[in-house]
Amino acid sequence: MHDLATTVRELTERYAARNPTSARLHAERATAMPGGNTRTVLHADPFPLTIARAEGATLTDVDGHLYRDLLGEFTAGLYGHSNPVIAGAIREALADGIAFGAPNEYESGLAAAIVGRFPSIDLVRFCNSGTEANLLAVSLARAATGREGVLVFEGGYHGSMLSFPTAAGSPLNAPFPFIVAPYNDATTARELVQQHAASLACVVVEPLQGSAGAIPGEAAFLGSLRAVTAERDVVLVFDEVMTSRLAPGGAQDLTGVIPDLTALGKYLGGGLTFGAFGGRRDLMDRFDPGRPGSLAHAGTFNNNVLTMAAGLAGLTQVLHREVLDQLNRSGDDLRERLTALGAALELPFQATGVGSLIGLHLAHGPIRRITDTVQTAPATLTALRTLLHLSLLERGYSHARRGFLSLSLPLTPADIDGYVDAVGDVLAAHAGLIRAAFPRR
Ligand SMILES: Cc1ncc(COP(=O)(O)O)c(C=O)c1O
Repeated sequence: MHDLATTVRELTERYAARNPTSARLHAERATAMPGGNTRTVLHADPFPLTIARAEGATLTDVDGHLYRDLLGEFTAGLYGHSNPVIAGAIREALADGIAFGAPNEYESGLAAAIVGRFPSIDLVRFCNSGTEANLLAVSLARAATGREGVLVFEGGYHGSMLSFPTAAGSPLNAPFPFIVAPYNDATTARELVQQHAASLACVVVEPLQGSAGAIPGEAAFLGSLRAVTAERDVVLVFDEVMTSRLAPGGAQDLTGVIPDLTALGKYLGGGLTFGAFGGRRDLMDRFDPGRPGSLAHAGTFNNNVLTMAAGLAGLTQVLHREVLDQLNRSGDDLRERLTALGAALELPFQATGVGSLIGLHLAHGPIRRITDTVQTAPATLTALRTLLHLSLLERGYSHARRGFLSLSLPLTPADIDGYVDAVGDVLAAHAGLIRAAFPRR
């Protein structure tokens, strides 16, 4: 049996040999972009695949290989790559012109659809990304309360300027005074809110931490955040950029915990560039330009015609309740099957998440926060993730190297069966290496 390093090296060599055009294009990109990259999350050593086209849930790379797409564009691709209703709406809107510099007829429909779905959202405003949506929600909370502090959670990701892979946060973060608390620890969060209430504008939380590895927020934790923020008049912001797909009204609908403000993004723009934030009328009304001293929030592309048309078509013509329920049920089923593979082979392998959001973990359970996901040396974990990722690509299945999956509507039961078989094969083939990488329990 090869050791882990040799196995990963051989897989990497095979990958490079199989993908000469992707390798060349990566090198070319690097002459104009740092490391050939403009979106950090898409980089994976030795180079990412360049995709030439996509249809349904199938990706075709520039070397002609086909993959079933289990990543679903980090949740923005819920509708798949070529939904005819959405493509038709974009074409129809395009025929009437691209950018008007004026309100258009689609934005009111999309706003009404969002207000109608999400319990916390009395009024909504559009922007261009989930990052912007969170920054605006936080800034609104700060302006409305006259306080500066922002309580966030370790493992939280709210965009590249609100990112907390560790408690230290990213050096690129917006210069707000952050307090970073452990996720799923209701007692500590309550104490911190009480202790800092006089200077705290808001608490920002993902109801399920996506980037940290699809780690669900426990009901008691979310409920306790709601209670203590209400007691202390601190604004509770739910970052539902990913979780808005878990039910027609998002995680707030699913859990019954209703925040003051909600940040949205991803699939709600039909697959095009999108962000939105909304919430309590008294907070959002501050943006009413007819009010004296109103807050100004411009944004050239806030109501861009193509996104508004695509998002509206998706919500009103495609994503009916039963369609979304079915997608989330198939995610629940897939997660159970993946976790069962690990159990059957007695390996530290499991799937976390809720509904169509799935995190694969090479770890013993339970996983309640990001620190639970690393149970061996970081370099070993990276090697194991690379092994899994490259092995699944060889078998025709694509998702993020870190083991993140989000299901899309065009995936079929046969795709899911094929994927489970492929993961089972890879785990069985490398069971010895995986076991040896973890301390004995
Ligand atoms: C929970 C969450 N919030 C915010 C963002 C940032 O959204 P965007 O990439 O559209 O700026 C993301 C993106 O992955 C996310 O997962």
